Amino acid sequence: MSLRKKLIAGNWKMNKTAADGVALVADIVAAAGKQNDVEVVVCPPFTGLESAAAKLEGSTVKLGAQNMHPEASGAYTGEISAGMLRALFVSHVILGHSERRSYFHESDAFINQKVLAALKAQLKPILCVGETLAERESGSTLKVVQTQLEAGLEGVSKDLATNVVIAYEPVWAIGTGKVASTEQAQEVHAFIRSLLVKLFGDAIAQKVRILYGGSMKPANAPELLAQKDIDGGLIGGASLEARSFVELVTAAIAIK
Ligand code: PGA
Repeated sequence: MSLRKKLIAGNWKMNKTAADGVALVADIVAAAGKQNDVEVVVCPPFTGLESAAAKLEGSTVKLGAQNMHPEASGAYTGEISAGMLRALFVSHVILGHSERRSYFHESDAFINQKVLAALKAQLKPILCVGETLAERESGSTLKVVQTQLEAGLEGVSKDLATNVVIAYEPVWAIGTGKVASTEQAQEVHAFIRSLLVKLFGDAIAQKVRILYGGSMKPANAPELLAQKDIDGGLIGGASLEARSFVELVTAAIAIK
C-alpha cells in the first residue's frame, strides 16, 4: 500500500466557458464526487472557478487554478493572487506549466516565487517540470528536470514540502498524442523522487506525489499509473470530457 493517495487533476487550459464548465463539473461530481480513494482536482480557467466551486460543494472533488501571480496584491494588470484564489475555495494551483514557460517566458526564479507564495497562502502548488524533444534527444532530460525542480523548490521548508505536488510533463508529449513510455516516465519519476530525498529526506520524499502529464488517456493510464513512482496524472485533452476524465479516475482507483 502506497503512502501516497493517487491524484488525478484536470487541466482545462483555455477551454470551457463558465457555463460549459459547470456542466462538466456536474457530470464529474455525479460519477466520482463521493469516492475518497483517489484525490480528484479540476482546474478550470479563472472565469470558471466561482461557478465550478458552487457545483463542487459537498463533493470530494477539489478545485485548482492554472496559474497565479506571486504578489499578494497591487499594480499587476491582468493577474490573480493566491488570496483571490483562496477566496474562491481553490485548494491547488498549477505552476510552471510548460505553456507558461514557453509562451509567457516564465523563468524558474519567477515560478519559485509563485510556489513560495502559494504555500504561504495554504494553496497546494502543482509544480510542472519537463524537457523538450530537443533536450531529450541531446541526452539532457535529467539535467533539465533537475534544474527546474531544484530552482522551483528553492526555499521550500520540510514542513511544507508534502503540500507540493510535482508534475513531470515531457513537453514533446503534451497535446501531441505521443505519450512517454512507462519506462521513460518511471525513470524520470524515480529520479525526481531521488532529488526530493536529497532536498527533504526520505520520509518526506516518500509522501510527495509525482504526477505524469502528457497525452495521458484511459488507454494508456493503467500502465503508467501502475509504476512505482507515478502517483497520478495531470490531464489536458482527456479532462475536457466527463467520460474520459472519470475513466482515468476509475483507473487510478483500480490501482490505488
Ligand atoms: P495533454 O496535456 O493531456 O493534453 O497532453 C497535459 C498538460 O498539459 O497538462
